[in-house]
Amino acid sequence: MRNIHLNHITKSFGSTRVLRGVSLAIEDGEFVTLLGPSGCGKSTLLRILAGLEVQDSGSVTIGERSVDGVRPKLRDVAMVFQSYALYPHMTVAANMALPLRVRRLSAWQRLPILRWIVPGTRRVSSEIEEEITRTAKALGIGHLLSRKPGQLSGGQRQRVAVGRAIVRHPAVFLMDEPLSNLDAKLRVQMRAEIKDLHRRLGVTFVYVTHDQAEAMTLSDRVAVMLDGELIQVAPPQEIYSDPDDRRVAEFVGSPKINLLEGVVRERGSVDAAGTNFHLLSDAPPGAALALGIRSEAFHLSECGGANTLTGAVRLIEHMGSDLFVHLAIPGSEHPVIARLLPERAPHIASGQTLHLGVRPERLLLFDADGKRLRPDNRENDNVLRMKEHA
Ligand SMILES: Nc1ncnc2c1ncn2[C@@H]1O[C@H](COP(=O)(O)OP(=O)(O)OP(=O)(O)O)[C@@H](O)[C@H]1O
Ligand SMILES: [Mg+2]
Repeated sequence: MRNIHLNHITKSFGSTRVLRGVSLAIEDGEFVTLLGPSGCGKSTLLRILAGLEVQDSGSVTIGERSVDGVRPKLRDVAMVFQSYALYPHMTVAANMALPLRVRRLSAWQRLPILRWIVPGTRRVSSEIEEEITRTAKALGIGHLLSRKPGQLSGGQRQRVAVGRAIVRHPAVFLMDEPLSNLDAKLRVQMRAEIKDLHRRLGVTFVYVTHDQAEAMTLSDRVAVMLDGELIQVAPPQEIYSDPDDRRVAEFVGSPKINLLEGVVRERGSVDAAGTNFHLLSDAPPGAALALGIRSEAFHLSECGGANTLTGAVRLIEHMGSDLFVHLAIPGSEHPVIARLLPERAPHIASGQTLHLGVRPERLLLFDADGKRLRPDNRENDNVLRMKEHA
C-alpha cells in the first residue's frame, strides 16, 4: 500500500508562513492535484513530500511508514520538475540511466575505465540500456537517445524527464508543473499522455499546477490550496459545482463565476443587483450574502421579474459551440457573463435589453465570510415539524 498522509504540515521561510497546517490523505493509486495560485505553497508541500525540504512541524507517512528524516532517495518517490532538471552535458540515454546507475551499480562499477574490470558491470549496464531503450520507445523518444537536452524541443525534454522518473519504478510520482513550459497544443497532448501513464502504471500521482484545466481533466481529486491552506479537497466536478468556499468558486471555472452581493430581505428571499431572488436556504433577514451564478446557469427569459436579471448586452463572444453574452446590470459593478447555446439565442445584438433567469437551485450562496450556505432540506424540515405536531 502506498497511500500518503500529510499531517498538520507547517513551514515558514524566515518570517513568511508558507504552509499553515496542511493535512491530506491520498489513497494508493490515486491521482491528486494540488491546485492554487502562484506562491500559495504548492511546490513547498511537494518538496516536503519528496524529502527535498524539511517541514517545521507535522509528519509525512508514505505507505504507513513515517518518512520524516528519511532521505529523498529512500522514499521510493520520483519527482518531475518544472525545469525538467536534465544534465545538459549528458545524452538523453545517460540522463535517463542516471537513477538506475546510481541504484544498481556500485561506486567502483561507475568509475570511468576501471569499472570494466569489476565483475558484473557489463551485465548490469546492458540491463540498464535495455530498460532505457524500452521506456524511451514507449514515450516516443527512442530516436533521441544520443542527443543532448539542448538539441530537444520542450515537449521532448519533458518526455525525457518523465522517462527518467519512470525507469525508477517509483511507488509515487510527484510532478511539479511539468507542462508549464509547453505551448497550448502540446500541453493538451501531454496532458492526455500523463493521464494514460497513470492508468498504465497504476501508482500514486501527486501533481502540482496552477492551471485549472489540467487539474480538472487529470485528477481523481483536486486539492485547492490558497495562502498555505487546503480549502477544499474533492473530485473535480464537485469542486466546480459544489464549492465549499467563495474563493474556490472564484478560482475554478472559466469564465469566472458571476458574484452578486445581496442582503436577505426576509427568510427565503434576497435582494441583489436590483432583483429579488428566491432562496432554498434560510438566512436571517438583514444578512449579507453573495450569490454565485455560473455562466451556464442562466436561461433566456421573456420578461423581467423575480430570479431574473435585466440589462443591456455589452459584448457577444461566439465560441463555436457556446455563446458568451456580457450583460451590464444596473446596480452590479461587473458585467454578468452568461453562456447560451447559439441555436437558442440566434438574434442577440449588442445594446439590446436581455432578461436572464436563474432557478433558485442553481444559486450558490456564500456568507459574509465566504463560507458556502447550502440549501436547507425543507422537505425534511417539514416532515420533522409535522412529527413534532403529531
Ligand atoms: N527557499 C526559499 N526561501 C525563501 N522563501 C521561499 C523559498 N521557497 C519558497 N519560498 C516562498 O514560499 C512561498 C511559496 O512558494 P512555493 O514555491 O511553494 O509556491 P508555489 O505555490 O509553488 O508557486 P508557483 O505556482 O509560482 O510555483 C513563496 O512566497 C516563495 O517566495
Ligand atoms: Mg511552484
